Order: sequence, then C-alpha cells, then structure tokens
Amino acid sequence: MDEKINVTIVGYGNIGRGAHLAIGNPDNSDMNLVGIISRRPEIVANEVRNIPVFDANDEASWRGLDADVAILCGGSAEDLPKQGPYFAQFFNTLDSYDDHPHIPPYHDKKTGKDMPGYFKDMDIPARESNHTSAISIGWDPGLFPLIKILSDSFFSGMKSYGFYGLEPRGGLSMGHTNAIKRLKGVMDAAQYTHAYPEAMKRVRSGENPDLKPGDMHWRECFVSVEEGVDKEGMKGIEKKIKKMPRYYKPYYTEVNFISQEEMDANHSDMPHDGVVIAAGTTGDGHKVLMEFKVQWESNPEATASIMVPYARAVYRANQRGDYGAKTIINLLPDSVSSSSKEELIERI
Ligand SMILES: NC(=O)c1ccc[n+]([C@@H]2O[C@H](COP(=O)([O-])OP(=O)(O)OC[C@H]3O[C@@H](n4cnc5c(N)ncnc54)[C@H](OP(=O)(O)O)[C@@H]3O)[C@@H](O)[C@H]2O)c1
Repeated sequence: MDEKINVTIVGYGNIGRGAHLAIGNPDNSDMNLVGIISRRPEIVANEVRNIPVFDANDEASWRGLDADVAILCGGSAEDLPKQGPYFAQFFNTLDSYDDHPHIPPYHDKKTGKDMPGYFKDMDIPARESNHTSAISIGWDPGLFPLIKILSDSFFSGMKSYGFYGLEPRGGLSMGHTNAIKRLKGVMDAAQYTHAYPEAMKRVRSGENPDLKPGDMHWRECFVSVEEGVDKEGMKGIEKKIKKMPRYYKPYYTEVNFISQEEMDANHSDMPHDGVVIAAGTTGDGHKVLMEFKVQWESNPEATASIMVPYARAVYRANQRGDYGAKTIINLLPDSVSSSSKEELIERI
C-alpha cells in the first residue's frame, strides 16, 4: 500500500469506540488515526492514550488537522443533522445516519415545511468544498438496502423485507433505546426488537404479503428510573413511550421497569441481528428464495467495522474528483476493499 489514509473520528460514543478498534484491524493498516474530535475532550483524552484529542467546539484547534476523511460517529437524532453539514465543509466525511425517512426530501409535520433531507443537506456543503461525503453507511441503512435494491432488480415483482431481532432475546435497537433515554425521569433503558416468526414464514412462502411495521415486529423495553419517580411517574413514562410516533406507536410494545443494578447486570451489552428475505418465482414459476442474515454480538462494533473500510472508498472517490454526497449504492466494492485489483479478480 502506498501512502496511508489519514482519518479522524468525530464523536467518541459506542460507534466512535468501535471505529477506533476497527482502524486497528490488520486489513485497515493503510489507515492512520490522526486524532479524535469530541465535545468532551478531557473525558475522552482520559480514555484514549497516544491519540491527540481535540475540542469539537474549538474549530481553530482541529482546522489544520491533516485528515483525509472524518468518520462522524455522532447520534442520528441530534448530532449528525448539525455535525454532518458542518464537518463536510472541512473534510471528506463518512457517517451512519439512520433516520431513514429523513434521508430523502420529506414533509415536516411539526413545522409544516418541506425539508431537503439529509442527503441534500450533505451534498451541498460537500460539493461547495470539493469534498466527498458518504452517508448512512452501516448495516441498516447500509448493507440491508443495498441487498434489497439488488434483489428487487433481479426479481421483478418480488418484494424484499427486513426483519430484526430473530433470537429469543431480540435485538437491541440503539435508536429506540436512545429515544427512551431522552424522556424525563428515565435513568437508563434498553429496547429489544422482536420479529414475528409467522410474518417471516409468510414472506418465505413467496406470498409477498402487504405487511405494516406492526405486523412484522414488536418492541420490549426495560427502563430504570431516577430517584423520586413513583408508580404514577412510571405510568406516565410508559404512556409516553407507547405514544412515540414512528418509534413505538405502530407496534405492540411492552414496558418493564427494573432497577439500575438489574440493568447493569443484564442489559449492558448490545447484541442485534436481522435478515433480508425476498421470495417469489422466476420465468416458469420456479421458486426463488434469497436471504441475507447478520448476527452481531456488538452492534456498534459491527457497524463501525462496516463504516471504516468505506473511508477508503470515500478517499478514492475524492481523489477521482467525485464530489458530493454518496450512499452505499454509489461506492463500489473494489474501492472499499484493501485488496489489490489483481487479488480481487482472482477471488471473482
Ligand atoms: N446505519 C447503521 O447500521 C447504524 C447502526 C447502529 C447505529 N447507528 C447510528 O449510530 C449513531 C451513534 O450511536 P452510538 O451508540 O455511538 O451513540 P452514543 O454512544 O450515544 O454516542 C453519540 C455521541 O454522543 C456523545 N457521547 C458519547 N458518550 C457520552 C456521554 N457519556 N455523555 C455525553 N455524551 C456522550 C459522543 O460525542 P462527543 O464525543 O462529541 O461528546 C458521541 O459521538 C446512532 O444514533 C445511530 O443512528 C447506525
């Protein structure tokens, strides 16, 4: 490998830590972590040794950083809508933005305004500064829509479905968990998504059923509350959770209140899994079944392991002069891989 690709991590939470570990993988030895940018520089510097840590709010401190790609690891709800367009002015970027309905243009019911959506919000600053910004890289969004788009192109008339939380314990959804954690009175939370096996059976049979979100999954929540929150307070929290539009309202939802000790003992890991299924027939009515399944013991580590190699693709696209926002379908596998062209052809 010629010169190393210099990367910086912006935001040091679960995904940020996962990205740090993934950069250390031997397959990513062409990458060099030149610094971490955080809004909590002292805390992060205490955790990370030998890597310079910069204050995200002190632009002058990191403006001159020699980074080819900034891996943005902030949260999708509050951080990335601001941090994405901001950092795209200074660096090529990569993120795992997962607020699916807000990626394309959308209508904001609260304000009554038509919004450009995250893709456009990133495309404009990236183009204006000759940068390349890969958005929504991970498994979903990321690998799952990529597989769905391909299977829908191969088998016309067939629908592809995504199911999550296949194991008895379910899959811990970070976005849904964070939505509960933001509620007043909540100390900690964990939300497990469960797929309905009957719905998966219908899809596998080739029926191509019309399924609403609540027909495919249900949600199980564990919540610990702050001191002073009584039974009435808990009832209020449960009501608020169940009423949350998009996150909980469309689903059958169970809320269990537990102690913080129980939370720490049983819900501090972050497992997740899921499968894309497409079934139907080809030509003369011959059956087709396509499945793409993932199982993660640590969702953030797995997501970050998918993100980090895309820094290579972002860097290469930018070197070619391919500026603006990109999604996983615009970045080709040969630019993601660290293998040479010759090695890749041999594997094909
Ligand atoms: N596409 C996919 O497949 C996929 C899969 C999983 C997750 N995701 C996305 O990844 C996003 C990030 O997830 P995450 O689990 O890394 O979120 P997180 O741990 O909450 O971290 C988000 C940000 O919060 C700050 N932070 C972290 N710990 C903190 C603390 N103790 N106190 C105050 N601030 C803290 C960090 O920024 P500072 O360092 O600047 O403070 C960090 O960048 C999620 O919102 C989700 O949208 C995508």
